[in-house]
Amino acid sequence: MMKILSIVGARPQFVKAAPLSRAIRVDHEEILIHTGQHYDESMSRVFFDGMDLPAPDFNLGVGSGSHAEQTARMLVGIEALILSERPVCVVVDGEPNSALAGALAAGKLNVPLAHVEAGLRSFNRSMPEEINRILTDRVSTLLLCPTQTAVDNLRNEGITNGVHLVGDVMFDAAAWAANRADAHSDVIERLGLVRGQFLLATVHRASNTDDPQNLARIVRAFVKQTKTLVWPVHPRTRKTLELHGLSPMLEAAPHVILTDPVGYLDFVALTMHAACVLTDSGGVQKEACFHKTPCVTLRDETEWVETVQSGWNQLVGADTRRILAALESIDQCRTGSVLGDALWDGNASQRICACLSELANRPEPKGVVVTLTARSSTGTRFATPA
Ligand code: UD1
Ligand code: UDP
Repeated sequence: MMKILSIVGARPQFVKAAPLSRAIRVDHEEILIHTGQHYDESMSRVFFDGMDLPAPDFNLGVGSGSHAEQTARMLVGIEALILSERPVCVVVDGEPNSALAGALAAGKLNVPLAHVEAGLRSFNRSMPEEINRILTDRVSTLLLCPTQTAVDNLRNEGITNGVHLVGDVMFDAAAWAANRADAHSDVIERLGLVRGQFLLATVHRASNTDDPQNLARIVRAFVKQTKTLVWPVHPRTRKTLELHGLSPMLEAAPHVILTDPVGYLDFVALTMHAACVLTDSGGVQKEACFHKTPCVTLRDETEWVETVQSGWNQLVGADTRRILAALESIDQCRTGSVLGDALWDGNASQRICACLSELANRPEPKGVVVTLTARSSTGTRFATPA
C-alpha cells in the first residue's frame, strides 16, 4: 500500500478524480487535497456529493485571483502538505493552475509526480492552460496519456521516459454516469425540455469570455438560432455577460435558458439528450462524442483532434456565421461516421493505478528531508472542509 497525494481544485479535475480516486483506494491510501480554486457550491461541492468523490482531507481555500496570486498561494499550501504527509507520489490531472502548482511543488521536493492527461497540446501558447500542461509534463515522472496523439506530442518534445498510453479517465466517469443519469437526474423535466430537440451550451475559455467581441459573437449566434438552447453559465462568464452589457440580449430571447452550472449527472443527462452541444470546454467536447452527440466547438483549435477527425466535432471559433452554419449540418455526424477508441472501456483508472504501483519501489526522495527545516518558518494554516 502506498500513500498517494491527489491534488484537485477546478471542476474538470473533480470529474477526473472521481473514478481515479475509487480505483486508487482499492489498494492504496489516498490523501485528497482541494486547492479551493473553484469554491461555489455549483462548481465544487456538487461534484463531491454527486460523483461519490470522498470529501477532501485538506482544503487550501485559495479562491480566485490573478494567475500568479492564485498559483503562488497553492504552491505554499501544497509544499507544506507534501512535507507533512510525505507521500510516495503526487497525482495531478489536466491543466488548471491547481495541476501546475501541484507539479511544481512535487518536482522541487523530488517527489515523483504522475500527470493524468499528459501530452495534450493546443499549440496555442496564448492559452494559460497550454503553459500549465507543458510545464507539468516537463517535471512529471509518469506521463499518463489519454490518446496516441498525446504520446506522439510528447515524443516530438523529446519526452519518452515514463510515458504510458492509459486511455481516458473522463470516459470512465462518463460510462459510470451514463448508467445513472436517466434514473437520478430530472433536469430534462425540470427545464421543460424535449429529448433530442434542444441544444446545450457552455462557454468559459478566457479567449471567449475576456474578449467582449468574441463573447458578443457567440451570444448573437445563440440568440439567432431558433432551437431551445440550455446554457449552464460558468461564474466567470456570468460576470462578463453583465460587464459587457450582453445580458439584455439574452433576456429578450425566450428560447435561450440560462441556468447556474449544473451537477455532473444533470450535465450528462443534458449531453445525452441534446441535439447538439456548443462549447469551448475541453472535457465537454469529448463527452459529447462519448455520448454520440454532435459537437460544435467555439474555438479555432482543439487538443482532442480525434473528435474532429471522426467528424463528430466541428471547430468554428467565435464566429456567428460559422456557428450557425455548423448547426445546419449537425445531422450529418450521426450518419455513418466511426466514433470510438479501443481504450474507451471504462478501465483507464485501473491502468493508471497499475502505473502508479511502479513507483512503490523507488528509493525515498532526498529533497524532502532537506526542505523540512524551511516548513516550520512558513507557518501555513489549512482549513479542512466541512
Ligand atoms: C479554470 C482553468 C481552466 C478550466 C476551468 C474549468 C486555469 C488557468 N484555468 O478556468 O483550464 O477549463 O477552470 O472550469 O486554471 N469563479 C467564481 N466561483 C468559482 C470559481 C470561479 O465566481 O467557484 C469566477 C471568479 O471570478 C474567477 C473566475 O471565475 O476569477 C475564473 O476562475 P478561475 O478558476 O481562475 O479560472 P476558470 O476560468 O474557472
Ligand atoms: N460540467 C458539469 N456541469 C456544468 C458544466 C460542465 O458537470 O454545468 C462538467 C462536464 O460534464 C465536464 C466538466 O464539467 O466533465 C468540464 O469542465 P469545464 O468545461 O469547466 O473544464 P474544461 O474541461 O474545459 O477544462
